[in-house]
Amino acid sequence: MSITRRRFIQQSGIAAAAVMMPQMAHRQPPKPVKPVLDPNTLAAFVDPLPIPGVARSTELRPSPDDPKLKIPYYRLPMRQFQAKVHRDMKPTRLWGFGTSSPGPTLETESGKAMLVEWANELPREHFLPIDHSLHGAESDKPDVRSVIHTHGAKVPPESDGYPENWYVPGKSATYYYPNQQDATLLWYHDHTLGINRLNVLAGLLGLFIVRDPVEDALNLPRGKYEVPLVLCDRMFDLDSQLYYPVSQHSSKPWVPEFFGNAILVNGKLLPYLDVEPRKYRFRILNGANGRFFHLTLANGQSVSQIGTDQGLLPAPVTLKQVSLAPGERADLVLDFSDHAGEQIVLKNDFAAPIMQFRVSRTKVSDPSSLPAGLRPVPKIAESEAVKTRTLRLGEIDDLVQYPVTMLLNDKHWNAPVTEDPVLNSVEIWNLMNVTDDAHPIHLHLVRFQILDRRRFERFAYQYENILRYRGAAAAPEPGEAGWKDTVRADPGMVTRIIVKFEGFVGRYVWHCHILEHEDNEMMRPYDVIAGR
Ligand code: C2O
Ligand code: CU
Ligand code: CU
Repeated sequence: MSITRRRFIQQSGIAAAAVMMPQMAHRQPPKPVKPVLDPNTLAAFVDPLPIPGVARSTELRPSPDDPKLKIPYYRLPMRQFQAKVHRDMKPTRLWGFGTSSPGPTLETESGKAMLVEWANELPREHFLPIDHSLHGAESDKPDVRSVIHTHGAKVPPESDGYPENWYVPGKSATYYYPNQQDATLLWYHDHTLGINRLNVLAGLLGLFIVRDPVEDALNLPRGKYEVPLVLCDRMFDLDSQLYYPVSQHSSKPWVPEFFGNAILVNGKLLPYLDVEPRKYRFRILNGANGRFFHLTLANGQSVSQIGTDQGLLPAPVTLKQVSLAPGERADLVLDFSDHAGEQIVLKNDFAAPIMQFRVSRTKVSDPSSLPAGLRPVPKIAESEAVKTRTLRLGEIDDLVQYPVTMLLNDKHWNAPVTEDPVLNSVEIWNLMNVTDDAHPIHLHLVRFQILDRRRFERFAYQYENILRYRGAAAAPEPGEAGWKDTVRADPGMVTRIIVKFEGFVGRYVWHCHILEHEDNEMMRPYDVIAGR
């Protein structure tokens, strides 16, 4: 790897903007080769926000753990359909579950197991540009294949949706979810090796909510006052169809990141939601391929963050801005009681509108609460760790500094397993980011805590093999100080996480949740192995 000009500029601190906003990717999106729809030309806030329906179990079936026990069985068919993302656009071809994207929400209680049959009923042709030079997507593989993973679920390995366990239209897989985990918002999405970015962009994602008595006892806003918001950025052509850019090399169409100019909320562009002047609970997922969201309310109102990826925070955190990397979730309480009659826009970054809340005028009573204490999150002591692994997040560029591939610890997907924690042991993973991008790193099966982030000298590390820190370690942000399953690893930083590998023995994966990176080698298998 040569010292590229881009890296040199980064190191010498000239690229001030990139240094100030490490979570924003430094690269410009590739220029679309055909004209794309400009959402600013559309009427804003004309469509009501859709709420994904709740999946219904059709029958009970024997539990794989205990055949005498009957557990709910669901069948979710992946299909292609047309849907309108905006009143003034033509119907868009999408992939989803049944006839919706996001698909129906699976809802369960902690400890209540279920079976889900993920049926591939997609057409045989893909409508997005497959890169057959990527590992796992070679031309001898069928174009249309899928496998569904539930992000954040503590499941046996055979139900985790291993990226190589894809199957073609006409086939299905029935997965077992024991749901032995705390209340939180999970999500399901495609995980097919080499085309995951395209399948998710086409619409193969949905929510999965786990509830439990601890959370129920808090009396948070519920029912119609609890609203999921799935955020995804997309690009549309002038015929209202999804557009995914390609590189300049026709044999290698892969692009290093996707950033769309149209942000969908639960599948709609610029929707509105009628609300009452009272508290609401919003459960937000960043379901984008590569975009980091920085959410604010246009009236300057603050929000209370009550939970993160794997459940409730110890106490609410008051924030003016909520930042979410791809794959991360935030559980928020918003109080509209002082805003009767107002129209409040939810924005991303500095100005881009996402949706509008229309607060009704009439006073209402609000029996819900926002307790000062939510759920204890006992800290895992560093002294419990039996192993510390230092794992590099790297990128290989071509001569013009265009990334060719992204690697974890310099290893490709098909190299032998190197991460092999013992079941129930605690490990510290030092995610050492030598690239110019922030990478949201996700581990399947487990939940973890962030210890800290600390800047190091990339030059000294990469070219002299010396690890020198610059400055002190920074504690996780207040909104990250709970159980996580995805962590933002900032450029030039060592991000330390502490993980207890609980649950099951077997093969899982860990990866960057920027789907373009994940599809191009930034994913590794890992094994949880039995202790002696
Ligand atoms: Cu959200 Cu491996 O995935
Ligand atoms: Cu996952
Ligand atoms: Cu990445």
